[in-house]
Amino acid sequence: MSLYSGFHKKTRQERIHILTTTKTLTPDSIETLTIDRNLPEDIAGQIAENHIGTFALPMSVVPEIVVNGRTYTLPLVTEEPSVVAALNYASQIIGKSGGFTTNSHERLMIGQVALYDLPDLEKAKVAIRQHQTEILDLANASHPSILKRGGGARAIRLDTKEDFLIVYLLADVKEAMGANMINNMLEGIKPYLVELSNGQALMAILSNYATESLVTATCRIAFDQIPGGQETARKMALASRLAQIDPYRAATHNKGIFNGIDALVLATGNDWRAIEAGCHAYACQDGQYRGLSNWTIEDTELVGNLTVPMPIATVGGSIGLNPKVKLAFDLLQHPDAKTLAGLIAAVGLAQNFAALRALVTTGIQAGHMKLQAKSLALLAGAKGTEVEAIAQKLRDSQHTNLEQAKTLLEELRASYSD
Ligand code: HMG
Repeated sequence: MSLYSGFHKKTRQERIHILTTTKTLTPDSIETLTIDRNLPEDIAGQIAENHIGTFALPMSVVPEIVVNGRTYTLPLVTEEPSVVAALNYASQIIGKSGGFTTNSHERLMIGQVALYDLPDLEKAKVAIRQHQTEILDLANASHPSILKRGGGARAIRLDTKEDFLIVYLLADVKEAMGANMINNMLEGIKPYLVELSNGQALMAILSNYATESLVTATCRIAFDQIPGGQETARKMALASRLAQIDPYRAATHNKGIFNGIDALVLATGNDWRAIEAGCHAYACQDGQYRGLSNWTIEDTELVGNLTVPMPIATVGGSIGLNPKVKLAFDLLQHPDAKTLAGLIAAVGLAQNFAALRALVTTGIQAGHMKLQAKSLALLAGAKGTEVEAIAQKLRDSQHTNLEQAKTLLEELRASYSD
């Protein structure tokens, strides 16, 4: 029997105890978990400006998800009920069919210098192409420490858009997200590009459209592992098709994928705005906004596929400063950036599986509201044992809303004095 059997039905203390027996956590991380240690105020005050405090969100785990034949415990940070349950559910089902396979295609960051007011566009292009080696050397000289780690500037690409000549710089940033690195490089090469092109430079900045950091997650699920079998699988494939052709559906479909992606990106201290921007740009790479995942039927299996730009970091930024982020990396057993990118894509696909399965069968409200009932009870003012009592009454009642939760709480409290 798995160590994690019935994990979600245990108390928080019991869950922490189980995690501490897995030997993946350092004594420091165990303490972080036990005392619920958060970002210290003095460090928080150094990270963001005009600091007045810190802001907490629930941290959860999905104890077992199989990715590339290995079982991971995933740390997740989300404020939304049912996201973690849905992931748990999908991981169990997909795990029985072998789990997820991921492939990190390449891992280069892209930045751009936009040149304008060019007296001779063609001449500027030729000059830049002829001096590519010098440009790359200059880029590396602007951030030499990356060379020692085996990374550095790799290539220059040119494109013209209206009157702009855009110079794209591609760099291997290793385990970092690389924003500072690539911005240093771009600002380092900017004056030379101005000199070579005889034009002006409007700006030099990294691009979050990280098309050279793509990662793919796939899974194949036998019909007999899917509740509802072939019929549900067929409807899920249809739901995936709908997200390809209708942008209104695509936005919601992708929001569901980000329920999972953001939760792991946040837990690992990464820049979720950068990830969101890149993925949404990728979702409209052919001019129409589309669903990021695809589900198809192959023989007796439902096959899921998700490709997304994932320029994720395992070092840098606030990653080393937040004790909960250190804990997250302990739980994940310190993956490198490519492995972490794969895990994030797998989580996105798992979340999408759960949402589509619910949508084409019971509808989303049944499972979602079942889990949102506790939040509504808390919002209505329930305390201690009242929370589960009101949540249960809400699940049994026709209307699961705040108004109803308040009424039920009033009734419960009135019954104390009866
Ligand atoms: P269910 O069949 O009612 O649940 O599904 P169950 O009580 O029979 O339990 C089945 C399994 O779910 C459990 O197995 C757990 O794995 C998991 P067990 O371990 O018991 O053998 N599970 C839980 N895990 C942790 N904590 C819990 C818990 N409860 C069940 N408390 C479930 C319930 C929520 C899983 C299902 O209805 C579901 O997957 N729904 C989808 C929920 C979802 O996607 N939520 C995100 C918010 S909605 C949204 O924002 C996005 C959306 O619009 C995207 C889109 O449109 O594509 C939907």
